[in-house]
Amino acid sequence: MSLLENTQRLDAIFAKAPLLPVISIQREADILPLADALAEGGVTTLEITLRTALGMSAIALLRRERPTLCVGAGTVLDGRQFQSVLDAGAQFIVTPGCTDELLTLGLESPVPLLPGIATASEILMGYRFGYRRFKLFPAEVCGGIQALRAFSGPFAGVRFCPTGGIRQDSLVDYLALDNVMGVGGTWMAPRAAVEAADWQTISRLSAASVALLQER
Ligand code: 3PG
Repeated sequence: MSLLENTQRLDAIFAKAPLLPVISIQREADILPLADALAEGGVTTLEITLRTALGMSAIALLRRERPTLCVGAGTVLDGRQFQSVLDAGAQFIVTPGCTDELLTLGLESPVPLLPGIATASEILMGYRFGYRRFKLFPAEVCGGIQALRAFSGPFAGVRFCPTGGIRQDSLVDYLALDNVMGVGGTWMAPRAAVEAADWQTISRLSAASVALLQER
């Protein structure tokens, strides 16, 4: 895909669903009920990370069994993982940082890449390739809302999905920024709730975040 298509596809994904739960699967049995709990609350786009050994098979399972969801891959660190998540059916790819290898692969990729950045220099690294959409990571650590406001000066036309430290009580402030297209994080599926298979809590938390979006 061209970089223009990359940008358009990411814009379409985040326009439909600005909340991006970041999920690390610890038990195979959690995959479908967790996704269903989020969907029940109105959250239908997910980032499944490769931080656990089950990440890859979770992407494949969700693509097969829950075709109406939009399933992205996260924590993709290198070219080998990039190819593997494509093979598993990932509909978008998120990386915590950017390397020449990943940015080059994103240019040829059939699905959009959202490269991670934390500094102006890293934005420029992606910018040189043509990227205009980035994950800001770890958002709260590297300046959060103030950093995003500051980036809007030199980087007109660039938009971000901040991730890392975002919570239910801060998501509206992030999304109020013109250069924020979505927010990612774990607050809708906290680890303790997943470990307890407490799917009701996950549905409730995701519904509460969706309600905040609608109240804006
Ligand atoms: C991550 O990639 O680790 C995500 O940013 C999740 O961070 P959070 O737990 O602070 O939401």
